[in-house]
Amino acid sequence: MAKENHLFFGGVDVVELAERYGTPLYVTDENKLRVNIRNYKRTFGKPNTGIDTDIYFAVKANGNLAILRILASEGAGADVFSGGELQLVKLAGIPLDKVLFNGNSKSEEELRAAVESQVKVSVDSREELQTLSTIAVEMDEEAEIAMRVNPDVSPKVNPKIATGLRTSQFGIPYEEILQTYEEAARLPNIVIKGIHCHIGSQILELSVFKEATEKMVQLVEGLYERGIELEFVDLGGGLGISYQKEQEIAPTPKDLAEMILPTFEAKMKSLGINLKLVLEPGRSIVGPAAILVSKVNTVKQAYKNFVAIDAGFNLFLRPVMYDAYHEVVVANKLNREASVLSTVVGQVCESGDIIAKDRMLPEVKRGDLVAILDTGAYGFAMSSQYNGRPRCAEVLVCDGAVDVIRTKESVEDLIRNQVIPERLR
Ligand code: LLP
Repeated sequence: MAKENHLFFGGVDVVELAERYGTPLYVTDENKLRVNIRNYKRTFGKPNTGIDTDIYFAVKANGNLAILRILASEGAGADVFSGGELQLVKLAGIPLDKVLFNGNSKSEEELRAAVESQVKVSVDSREELQTLSTIAVEMDEEAEIAMRVNPDVSPKVNPKIATGLRTSQFGIPYEEILQTYEEAARLPNIVIKGIHCHIGSQILELSVFKEATEKMVQLVEGLYERGIELEFVDLGGGLGISYQKEQEIAPTPKDLAEMILPTFEAKMKSLGINLKLVLEPGRSIVGPAAILVSKVNTVKQAYKNFVAIDAGFNLFLRPVMYDAYHEVVVANKLNREASVLSTVVGQVCESGDIIAKDRMLPEVKRGDLVAILDTGAYGFAMSSQYNGRPRCAEVLVCDGAVDVIRTKESVEDLIRNQVIPERLR
């Protein structure tokens, strides 16, 4: 088969990857990752802006240790949402003074782990604030905090990933923030460090970030009026990417900077302070850096021309969960004419398991390879073993070289923690 028809990713022939490592296979391009985080760091870097900015990668988007390690080497901090993610960032060598422990329902155990690790905690409710103080007193440690603000801003995205609306379960209501900080200032072993919000994900209309920034700096002013000082303002993540190449133009970190920095800088200047800015991007760093390679098991001409592949929503949930659009290409027939209207489906026992609906693809046969693009964010991270399928492997490609960064699971992994009680044997 002519190589010119093969998809190359990170300098590697994807068809060869599939032959060597099997399918399904998540493939991440190290250079893309580095370019994406450097882009943030350069755009928001102090020499360019006068504002000191830290990038806290949202680990929920992709918790692979090799990927976290690459981001650590680029100077990233981390937004973690669980005790498990805190462990991951420790193992990846992300400095703990650049970690924020987020979450609307943290267990006492997780709060203890955060205090013990001396990472900042984003407090999500007044009740949590009290609990954290009690825990810190018990441990005779200080708990450094920010508060997650619910700014009541509509991010104009899929409602499932809009997190800063008044009706959402995240954060402390905007009107209660100032008094909650005053309460925090009186609580023992609580040290106020920052203020935090995250309004949603896959945001393409950037004006909503400006709206959130305006509301947040307004609160900063209110806090300074009350004598409460901060070190940082964390505006969360959410920058969208272009999944539908011909129809969506992805905003860049530069667009984001132009949208939020003037508001931020103006308020810093008027207050005569210089707080650090923190951003928590996930998707815009890892999303475009990976593909999911899958093999065609069956082509069935029925109600539609169904192309059934060996990856379904067990491995890649976004199309089903959010009706998300992802480009698919036939990795071994790249330059062939797209002549057949096809619907790419997974192998899960549900009619909803549709990866790509009504796409023009080259004529596909059993054994061909389908690559789903832009699967680096919330791809493997949201996978499951549904339908009794062990999860697949992941490889990292870089300038033509390949490393396995996660081996595939086996049937053993499906049964590892299961127990049949003696009386049922
Ligand atoms: N910070 C916090 C507190 C978050 O909850 C999130 C994402 C982020 C940062 C990162 O947002 P990003 O830059 O990746 O948009 N599974 C969904 C996305 C859920 C996002 C949840 N929170 C999807 O596949 O679209």
